[in-house]
Amino acid sequence: MNLVKIKDIFTSPDIDKNILIGGWVRAFRAKKFIELNDGSTIKNIQCVILDSSIDEKIIKKISIGCSIKVKGNLVKSIGKGQNFEIQISSIEILGESDPDKYPIQPKKHSFEFLREQAHLRIRTSTFSSVMRIRSKLAFGIHEFFNKKDFNYINTPIITSNDAEGAGEMFKVTTLSDDQIDTKGTDYSKDFFGKKTSLTVSGQLEAETYALGLGNVYTFGPTFRAENSNTSRHASEFWMIEPEMAFYDLNDNMDLAESFLKNILQFILDNCSEDLAFLDQRLLKEESQKPKNERSEFTLIEKIKFTIDNEFVRLSYSEAFEILRNSNYNKKKKFKYLLDEWGCDFQSEHERFLVEKHFKSPVIIYDYPSKIKAFYMRLNDDGKTVRAMDVLFPGIGEIIGGSQREERLDVLEKRINEMDIDEKELWWYLDLRRYGTVPHSGFGLGFERIVMFCTGMQNIRDVIPYPRTPKNASF
Ligand code: 4AD
Ligand code: MG
Repeated sequence: MNLVKIKDIFTSPDIDKNILIGGWVRAFRAKKFIELNDGSTIKNIQCVILDSSIDEKIIKKISIGCSIKVKGNLVKSIGKGQNFEIQISSIEILGESDPDKYPIQPKKHSFEFLREQAHLRIRTSTFSSVMRIRSKLAFGIHEFFNKKDFNYINTPIITSNDAEGAGEMFKVTTLSDDQIDTKGTDYSKDFFGKKTSLTVSGQLEAETYALGLGNVYTFGPTFRAENSNTSRHASEFWMIEPEMAFYDLNDNMDLAESFLKNILQFILDNCSEDLAFLDQRLLKEESQKPKNERSEFTLIEKIKFTIDNEFVRLSYSEAFEILRNSNYNKKKKFKYLLDEWGCDFQSEHERFLVEKHFKSPVIIYDYPSKIKAFYMRLNDDGKTVRAMDVLFPGIGEIIGGSQREERLDVLEKRINEMDIDEKELWWYLDLRRYGTVPHSGFGLGFERIVMFCTGMQNIRDVIPYPRTPKNASF
């Protein structure tokens, strides 16, 4: 007999049929009612032990957290709370549990506690919903690019270049402790014969493929040793990086906006049950906040609003003026006050623009060159670059991208100004030597879009095993 997924039972219930299911016991009441979940859906199915049909010894072993296989008849339920249930004819205990010690009890646990039980938290409704949405979202992203004929490419994870030039790399080495010299290590003795690190971005390699294959994208893990312990930064996160030949910054912004709207629609179309559950969860959480701090939108409303409305687009200089003249700046409500053009925006500034001023997703473009990476195309004013950041409510920066500097002389000048080792980038400069074209791309932080879709407020709760400063458990 084949195992049936609980999800399939709910989508097309075959009443009066004998079926076999397997799962983990979420609750066991009155020695009679088992709530079973197999991860395929947010819903548990009720399985009923009919009088004296099952051996007492087996019933004794059933407890929360144990895994079982159940055979029985699917019938219309007379009880409240469910339309149908399974009348058990036999139970096989696969793995017993200890109900007193099992960490996931049938009550509300804090997310902090569940992070310490990251190997078991997937058995809760919230985490299974989040992770099903995460999985669907990945599929929706591939589908979006596939429909547009983009080529999916895999860029290296071990690299010898610092794509963002920010020096936030994790070293990769097989040298022994005594070969590492604080005064200068001889990396020619290392595994690759040179200094290598985990990649912070696949962009530079993606550019080489775009200038040959046309439109490409990467979807892979990236690593950053930046010591920022925030709810939106992880040391290991996944990024989607499309790179398009012949695209200028406007084409790039258009693609980014339609990309985000499409994948959000994909989630609305394909994850309605999980979204409805998370929507309710968030509503309960919001109702406990003081009235003036409550969000105007529910989770689903927020996603729909993002799909239905055009993103506001404005230049860094325009955004700077709005922020500088805002009451928040004048009344010193910002932690970082703005007075001089050229400073980087902090997340409080981004959130002011998105959540208070425009009340809409925002794209800021043409940033000061001083605060952006070396590869961004310099504008004619000589002080701004063709960068763009997409900012989302509750998240801040969700996408960062730019038109790339395709002119060899300008790029070389910037690389030198920024003290970057030109020798390591000879192949990147070759692209500008042989058949250069205008091109653009961007990076979407996968966990940040998962946070937006699920309403989860900490990046640690949207990736199975988060890596953050001082934490690499599991
Ligand atoms: O703005 P970033 O640093 O841009 C790049 O890496 C470019 N190479 C992308 C490109 O043009 N191909 O990062 C892109 C996005 C950010 O907007 C943010 O969503 C996410 O990656 N991100 C992080 N997400 C989680 N934890 C971190 N530490 C992140 N750093 C960036
Ligand atoms: Mg950025």
